[in-house]
Amino acid sequence: MIRAIIFDLDGVICSTDDYHFEAWKALADSLGLSFDRKKNDRLRGVSRMASLEIVLEESQISYTPEEKQAMAEKENEIYKALLCNVRPSDCFPGVRETLQALKDREVKIAIGSSSKNTKNILTRLELIDAFDAIADGTDVTHSKPDPEVFLCAAGKLGISPSECAVVEDASAGIQAAKAAGMLAVAFGGDACTDPRADVVITKPQQLLDLANVCGDAIC
Ligand code: BG6
Ligand code: MG
Repeated sequence: MIRAIIFDLDGVICSTDDYHFEAWKALADSLGLSFDRKKNDRLRGVSRMASLEIVLEESQISYTPEEKQAMAEKENEIYKALLCNVRPSDCFPGVRETLQALKDREVKIAIGSSSKNTKNILTRLELIDAFDAIADGTDVTHSKPDPEVFLCAAGKLGISPSECAVVEDASAGIQAAKAAGMLAVAFGGDACTDPRADVVITKPQQLLDLANVCGDAIC
Protein backbone atom coordinates (compact mmCIF):
# COMPACT_ATOMS: atom_id res chain seq x y z
CA MET A 1 0.00 0.00 0.00
CA ILE A 2 1.32 3.46 -0.90
CA ARG A 3 0.96 5.68 2.19
CA ALA A 4 3.29 8.52 1.17
CA ILE A 5 4.38 10.31 -1.99
CA ILE A 6 7.77 12.00 -2.08
CA PHE A 7 8.09 14.71 -4.74
CA ASP A 8 11.24 15.94 -6.36
CA LEU A 9 11.11 19.75 -6.68
CA ASP A 10 12.93 21.16 -9.75
CA GLY A 11 11.09 19.99 -12.87
CA VAL A 12 8.29 18.23 -10.93
CA ILE A 13 6.64 20.94 -8.85
CA CYS A 14 7.78 23.86 -11.03
CA SER A 15 10.11 24.65 -13.94
CA THR A 16 13.14 25.81 -11.93
CA ASP A 17 15.04 23.15 -13.92
CA ASP A 18 14.96 25.73 -16.75
CA TYR A 19 16.60 28.32 -14.47
CA HIS A 20 19.31 25.77 -13.65
CA PHE A 21 19.86 25.35 -17.39
CA GLU A 22 20.18 29.13 -17.88
CA ALA A 23 22.59 29.50 -14.97
CA TRP A 24 24.85 26.61 -16.05
CA LYS A 25 24.73 27.82 -19.67
CA ALA A 26 25.91 31.28 -18.56
CA LEU A 27 28.79 29.71 -16.62
CA ALA A 28 29.74 27.37 -19.49
CA ASP A 29 29.64 30.29 -21.98
CA SER A 30 31.95 32.34 -19.73
CA LEU A 31 34.43 29.42 -19.79
CA GLY A 32 34.10 28.87 -23.56
CA LEU A 33 32.51 25.43 -23.05
CA SER A 34 29.55 23.98 -24.94
CA PHE A 35 26.37 23.31 -23.00
CA ASP A 36 23.02 22.22 -24.38
CA ARG A 37 19.70 20.72 -23.25
CA LYS A 38 21.03 17.18 -23.70
CA LYS A 39 23.91 17.83 -21.33
CA ASN A 40 21.54 19.65 -18.98
CA ASP A 41 19.48 16.45 -18.67
CA ARG A 42 22.51 14.82 -17.04
CA LEU A 43 22.46 17.53 -14.35
CA ARG A 44 18.91 16.71 -13.28
CA GLY A 45 18.81 15.49 -9.70
CA VAL A 46 22.55 15.59 -9.07
CA SER A 47 24.24 18.01 -6.65
CA ARG A 48 25.69 21.39 -7.59
CA MET A 49 29.32 20.16 -7.42
CA ALA A 50 28.52 16.98 -9.39
CA SER A 51 26.77 19.20 -11.96
CA LEU A 52 29.89 21.37 -12.24
CA GLU A 53 32.05 18.29 -12.97
CA ILE A 54 29.71 17.41 -15.86
CA VAL A 55 29.84 21.00 -17.19
CA LEU A 56 33.66 20.95 -17.00
CA GLU A 57 34.23 17.47 -18.46
CA GLU A 58 35.26 18.78 -21.91
CA SER A 59 37.58 21.42 -20.45
CA GLN A 60 41.30 21.07 -21.19
CA ILE A 61 42.10 23.08 -18.05
CA SER A 62 42.59 21.43 -14.67
CA TYR A 63 40.96 23.68 -12.07
CA THR A 64 41.83 23.76 -8.36
CA PRO A 65 39.17 22.88 -5.75
CA GLU A 66 39.04 26.60 -4.83
CA GLU A 67 38.44 27.61 -8.46
CA LYS A 68 35.68 24.98 -8.75
CA GLN A 69 34.08 26.23 -5.53
CA ALA A 70 34.07 29.77 -6.95
CA MET A 71 32.46 28.54 -10.19
CA ALA A 72 29.73 26.69 -8.29
CA GLU A 73 29.06 29.82 -6.23
CA LYS A 74 28.88 31.90 -9.41
CA GLU A 75 26.30 29.52 -10.91
CA ASN A 76 24.31 29.64 -7.68
CA GLU A 77 24.33 33.46 -7.65
CA ILE A 78 22.98 33.53 -11.24
CA TYR A 79 20.41 30.87 -10.30
CA LYS A 80 19.28 32.69 -7.15
CA ALA A 81 18.81 35.92 -9.13
CA LEU A 82 16.56 33.99 -11.55
CA LEU A 83 14.64 32.50 -8.60
CA CYS A 84 13.44 36.04 -7.75
CA ASN A 85 11.05 35.56 -10.70
CA VAL A 86 9.32 32.55 -9.12
CA ARG A 87 5.66 33.25 -8.32
CA PRO A 88 2.92 31.02 -6.83
CA SER A 89 1.43 30.76 -10.35
CA ASP A 90 4.64 29.02 -11.52
CA CYS A 91 3.58 25.82 -9.80
CA PHE A 92 2.86 23.28 -12.60
CA PRO A 93 -0.82 22.85 -13.53
CA GLY A 94 -2.57 20.27 -11.36
CA VAL A 95 0.12 20.13 -8.66
CA ARG A 96 -1.67 22.17 -5.97
CA GLU A 97 -4.98 20.36 -6.48
CA THR A 98 -3.28 16.96 -6.45
CA LEU A 99 -1.40 17.74 -3.23
CA GLN A 100 -4.69 18.70 -1.59
CA ALA A 101 -6.48 15.61 -2.94
CA LEU A 102 -3.71 13.36 -1.57
CA LYS A 103 -4.00 15.06 1.83
CA ASP A 104 -7.76 14.54 1.75
CA ARG A 105 -7.08 10.82 1.24
CA GLU A 106 -4.64 10.91 4.18
CA VAL A 107 -1.66 10.15 1.96
CA LYS A 108 1.46 11.81 3.42
CA ILE A 109 3.35 14.14 1.07
CA ALA A 110 7.01 15.15 1.19
CA ILE A 111 9.71 16.85 -0.84
CA GLY A 112 12.90 14.95 -1.65
CA SER A 113 15.21 17.32 -3.52
CA SER A 114 18.98 17.62 -3.98
CA SER A 115 18.67 21.40 -3.99
CA LYS A 116 19.97 23.61 -1.20
CA ASN A 117 17.56 26.27 -2.51
CA THR A 118 14.49 24.12 -1.78
CA LYS A 119 13.00 26.18 1.05
CA ASN A 120 13.53 29.44 -0.86
CA ILE A 121 11.66 28.02 -3.87
CA LEU A 122 8.83 26.52 -1.77
CA THR A 123 8.42 29.86 0.04
CA ARG A 124 8.17 31.72 -3.28
CA LEU A 125 5.59 29.18 -4.52
CA GLU A 126 3.68 29.59 -1.21
CA LEU A 127 4.05 25.83 -0.68
CA ILE A 128 6.42 25.94 2.30
CA ASP A 129 3.71 24.68 4.68
CA ALA A 130 2.06 22.29 2.21
CA PHE A 131 4.24 19.23 2.90
CA ASP A 132 4.39 16.87 5.85
CA ALA A 133 8.19 16.71 5.51
CA ILE A 134 10.97 18.33 3.51
CA ALA A 135 14.28 16.56 2.82
CA ASP A 136 16.74 18.52 0.69
CA GLY A 137 20.36 19.16 -0.19
CA THR A 138 21.00 20.57 3.28
CA ASP A 139 20.05 17.24 4.92
CA VAL A 140 22.24 14.82 2.98
CA THR A 141 25.85 14.12 2.09
CA HIS A 142 25.16 11.97 -0.98
CA SER A 143 22.97 13.29 -3.79
CA LYS A 144 20.85 11.27 -6.21
CA PRO A 145 21.30 8.58 -7.58
CA ASP A 146 22.12 7.76 -3.94
CA PRO A 147 18.84 7.03 -2.09
CA GLU A 148 19.79 9.13 0.98
CA VAL A 149 17.40 12.05 0.38
CA PHE A 150 14.37 9.78 -0.15
CA LEU A 151 15.22 7.62 2.88
CA CYS A 152 15.60 10.85 4.86
CA ALA A 153 12.13 12.03 3.71
CA ALA A 154 10.57 8.65 4.59
CA GLY A 155 12.27 8.77 8.01
CA LYS A 156 10.90 12.27 8.67
CA LEU A 157 7.43 11.02 7.70
CA GLY A 158 7.77 7.86 9.80
CA ILE A 159 6.66 5.72 6.82
CA SER A 160 8.52 2.62 5.64
CA PRO A 161 10.27 3.00 2.23
CA SER A 162 8.20 0.16 0.72
CA GLU A 163 5.07 2.25 1.36
CA CYS A 164 6.47 5.33 -0.45
CA ALA A 165 6.27 6.42 -4.07
CA VAL A 166 8.68 8.96 -5.56
CA VAL A 167 7.80 11.40 -8.36
CA GLU A 168 10.82 12.36 -10.47
CA ASP A 169 11.88 14.08 -13.70
CA ALA A 170 15.49 12.85 -13.37
CA SER A 171 16.89 9.50 -14.34
CA ALA A 172 19.21 9.85 -11.31
CA GLY A 173 16.09 10.26 -9.16
CA ILE A 174 14.44 7.13 -10.59
CA GLN A 175 17.62 5.21 -9.80
CA ALA A 176 17.63 6.67 -6.26
CA ALA A 177 13.97 5.75 -5.70
CA LYS A 178 14.58 2.12 -6.73
CA ALA A 179 17.71 1.97 -4.53
CA ALA A 180 15.52 3.19 -1.64
CA GLY A 181 13.02 0.37 -2.30
CA MET A 182 10.28 2.80 -3.36
CA LEU A 183 7.85 2.94 -6.27
CA ALA A 184 9.41 5.15 -8.98
CA VAL A 185 7.02 7.42 -10.86
CA ALA A 186 8.45 9.33 -13.85
CA PHE A 187 7.03 12.77 -14.63
CA GLY A 188 8.84 14.75 -17.33
CA GLY A 189 12.57 15.04 -18.05
CA ASP A 190 14.76 12.07 -18.86
CA ALA A 191 12.98 10.03 -16.17
CA CYS A 192 10.19 9.34 -18.70
CA THR A 193 12.46 7.28 -20.93
CA ASP A 194 14.22 5.47 -18.08
CA PRO A 195 13.27 1.77 -18.18
CA ARG A 196 13.77 1.57 -14.38
CA ALA A 197 10.66 3.74 -13.82
CA ASP A 198 7.70 1.71 -12.53
CA VAL A 199 5.11 4.16 -13.83
CA VAL A 200 5.14 7.11 -16.25
CA ILE A 201 2.62 9.92 -15.76
CA THR A 202 1.98 13.02 -17.85
CA LYS A 203 -0.28 14.85 -15.37
CA PRO A 204 0.03 15.13 -11.56
CA GLN A 205 -3.63 14.10 -11.18
CA GLN A 206 -2.66 10.61 -12.38
CA LEU A 207 -1.02 10.10 -8.98
CA LEU A 208 -4.52 9.68 -7.62
CA ASP A 209 -4.85 6.59 -9.85
CA LEU A 210 -1.73 4.91 -8.49
CA ALA A 211 -4.06 2.39 -6.89
CA ASN A 212 -4.70 0.95 -10.35
CA VAL A 213 -1.04 0.54 -11.29
CA CYS A 214 0.00 -0.78 -7.88
CA GLY A 215 -2.82 -3.28 -7.76
CA ASP A 216 -3.42 -1.96 -4.29
CA ALA A 217 -5.33 0.82 -2.59
CA ILE A 218 -3.44 4.10 -2.34
CA CYS A 219 -4.89 4.74 1.13
C1 BG6 B 1 18.28 19.40 -8.21
C2 BG6 B 1 18.43 19.77 -9.66
O1 BG6 B 1 16.95 19.51 -7.82
O2 BG6 B 1 19.08 20.25 -7.39
C3 BG6 B 1 19.88 19.74 -10.05
O3 BG6 B 1 17.71 18.85 -10.45
C4 BG6 B 1 20.70 20.64 -9.12
O4 BG6 B 1 20.02 20.15 -11.39
C5 BG6 B 1 20.47 20.22 -7.68
O5 BG6 B 1 22.07 20.55 -9.44
C6 BG6 B 1 21.20 21.11 -6.69
O6 BG6 B 1 20.57 22.37 -6.68
P1 BG6 B 1 21.09 23.66 -5.94
O7 BG6 B 1 19.89 24.57 -5.94
O8 BG6 B 1 21.49 23.24 -4.53
O9 BG6 B 1 22.24 24.19 -6.72
MG1 MG C 1 14.12 17.39 -10.81
